[in-house]
Formats: sequence, C-alpha cells, structure tokens
Amino acid sequence: MTTSDNLHLHLHLADEAATLVLGSALANALKESSSGALIYLSGDLGAGKTTLSRGILRALGFSGRVKSPTYTLVELYVVSKLNLYHFDFYRFGEPEEWQEAGFRDLFNETNICLVEWPEKAGGLLPPPDLTIAMKSSLISGREAHLAAHSPRGLQMLSVLTSAALPTFAPPTM
Ligand SMILES: Nc1ncnc2c1ncn2[C@@H]1O[C@H](COP(=O)(O)OP(=O)(O)OP(=O)(O)O)[C@@H](O)[C@H]1O
Ligand SMILES: [Mg+2]
Repeated sequence: MTTSDNLHLHLHLADEAATLVLGSALANALKESSSGALIYLSGDLGAGKTTLSRGILRALGFSGRVKSPTYTLVELYVVSKLNLYHFDFYRFGEPEEWQEAGFRDLFNETNICLVEWPEKAGGLLPPPDLTIAMKSSLISGREAHLAAHSPRGLQMLSVLTSAALPTFAPPTM
C-alpha cells in the first residue's frame, strides 16, 4: 500500500529487498542536490533502519560491508562525492552524551547524516529534513512512514514519489 501527500509518504515494504529498494530511491534523492541532509530513522530493534541505510549506501556505490554503528556510534562513508555519516545512538544512557561525543559539527550544510535512535539524544539533535519511522507490518514485512520537515525533505519526497512508488508491491491480505 502506498499513500502520499506533499509532506508524507506511507509505504508497505514486503520484504528486505523492498527496504533496499527504498534505500536506493533515497540515494537518488540525496544525489539530486549537493546540500547536506539529516534523516532520522526511528523504529524498534530490528525494524529495518540499518537495512535501509545499507540500501542507500549500496545505491550510492559503496561496495564494502555496511555494519551497524551500534557500538562505534558512527561510521563515515565517503562515496559519490558525499560524506555520509551513519549514527546509532541506541547505547546513549543520557541525552547529554550526544553533546559530550562532540558530533555537533558533523551536522552541517554538506554532510549527509542518517541517525538511528535519534530520540536517545533527547531533542538535542538539530531538526531533521526527513523522518522515516519503520515498524513491523500487521500483515508481513514492514511499514515505513516518511515525513518531510524542510524544503530539502520535501525535495527528497518529491523524488521518491516520482520514481520509487511503482516498485512497491501492495500487501496481500
Ligand atoms: N521490509 C522488510 N521485511 C521483512 N524483514 C525486513 C525488512 N526490512 C528489513 N528486514 C529485516 O529486519 C532485520 C533487522 O533489520 P535491521 O538490522 O536493519 O534493524 P534495525 O532497525 O537497524 O535494528 P536496531 O535498532 O537493532 O539497529 C534484518 O534481518 C532484515 O533483513
Ligand atoms: Mg540498526
């Protein structure tokens, strides 16, 4: 099922391959502009956040292993002329740890930042361009809710809605 308006997109991702396809569409949207972007990836353990990040990186041309940054907090990928920082704040006990980690300057006009568990930074992070909330589907696979929060986020959603939607199969009841 896919529903959308200007600011929101709701997708059913039937399997892991569909999550990777969404990542590929997001990579295209990121390549459309040279400006940075901040994407919050939320959802429970195992919701598919790292899989989606892997799909983005593969489509940007990164052929190595995309590992979860759960223990390292951040992984940097330099690919397709982009600096992509993949964060995972799951292990933060207190939001203040985000400030102490010294990441603030990485959230700038040029870097692409994907953040798993942004809520663990307790509102100290800069506001996102795009939020992607993932959860298990009642049927099978995953549901993804995307929402734009800035002109950059809107631009990304418009690339997604023009290119990616036909590739998503509707859920079977
Ligand atoms: N659309 C999908 N349908 C079914 N399984 C999926 C889908 N997308 C991803 N998965 C599977 O979900 C599992 C967990 O995914 P992943 O590690 O990406 O979750 P995560 O949200 O990053 O979890 P964590 O919060 O622990 O970092 C993987 O085995 C992956 O193959
Ligand atoms: Mg993860």
